[in-house]
Amino acid sequence: MQMRYDKVIHSPWRECARQTVTKEERMLMKKITRRSFMAAMAALAAGGLAGCAGSAGNGLEIIRIGHNQSTNHPTHTGLLAFQEFISGKLGDKYDIQIFPSELLGSQNEMVQLTQTGAITFCVASNSLLETFSQNYTLFNLPYLFSSAEAYHASMDDPDIVGPIFESTKQAGFEAVTWLDAGTRNFYTIDTPINTPADLRGLKIRVQQSPTNVRMMELLGGSATPMGFGDVYTALQAQMLDGAENNELALTDNGHGDVCKYYSYTMHQMIPDILIGNLGFMDGLSEEERAIFDEGFQILNQTQREAWTDAVEAAKDKAQNEQGVNFIYPDIAPFQEAVAPMHEEMLAEYPDLAPIYELIQEHNAEFEAQA
Ligand code: GCU
Repeated sequence: MQMRYDKVIHSPWRECARQTVTKEERMLMKKITRRSFMAAMAALAAGGLAGCAGSAGNGLEIIRIGHNQSTNHPTHTGLLAFQEFISGKLGDKYDIQIFPSELLGSQNEMVQLTQTGAITFCVASNSLLETFSQNYTLFNLPYLFSSAEAYHASMDDPDIVGPIFESTKQAGFEAVTWLDAGTRNFYTIDTPINTPADLRGLKIRVQQSPTNVRMMELLGGSATPMGFGDVYTALQAQMLDGAENNELALTDNGHGDVCKYYSYTMHQMIPDILIGNLGFMDGLSEEERAIFDEGFQILNQTQREAWTDAVEAAKDKAQNEQGVNFIYPDIAPFQEAVAPMHEEMLAEYPDLAPIYELIQEHNAEFEAQA
């Protein structure tokens, strides 16, 4: 399927960020962001480079991979399997180094470092990629997938992801595989969310993407876009009333220490994407590319296999150790509130309609369980 190349936006989240955050909050966020970016630069400089591909003292080419999760997270486990596989096959040429926990900066910063080739790969939420290449908007739509099975089948379908992954090449990176990031749900410090009306007036952290800001607008809450690494502090300082994410954010990122209500609104299933610097990817020989492709598959499978158990463990810990209450609301009113976004997206990006239709086929095959 041929798709028109979309418009690339190089200043991520500038508009959505300005809509809802006060001047003081913006300054605080700027400070935090600058600090993490400086840390990233220091880490790169310590490794002997900033702004160009590196080589280790032993003559090996360094491949730096950044992500924003802890070393307990399924994504890190998957990347370790990738590292082991590539080192086993191409260890005489490449030295794979993994930087977890935003050590190389926020996701936005890591995407930019990957674009320039300062690092080779990073894991970015599909939400953020929407601000680099608008075709990614599709996977950010609330209630796009009818079930986790439909989500997985869609993300495994090359006719669905192929054209979207291809479209970021003009932005200087290639999307090489997707990772599970579960289902996103709202959680708050002290307000149980049973209906959209409960969100009214609450300041809810969302990821830095126009789709997420629009979603909150339709649900009646006040969207506060910020990077993942800043959310815990903002919750603790009560700059936020809540946030939305999968269950691992409660435990791995400590949000459940502050937020005591987690409501299964199941409003989004947004994949994470491993992106690679285009120059690096294009420079691989055919044989190397085949090995890397196998490595990406190993990463995808390992991460997904670890996901279900990790969610179960997180729920257990949140409930029993952090005292988080889990709520199971009727999701129909949430779905109705954001339903216009599907039409809006199709009207704005008509090229995405055939892919949207393919997703509906998977939805029909894997309907939600009542
Ligand atoms: C999930 C996702 C991350 C993302 C985070 C967020 O944890 O896996 O990639 O950064 O949500 O809400 O920002």
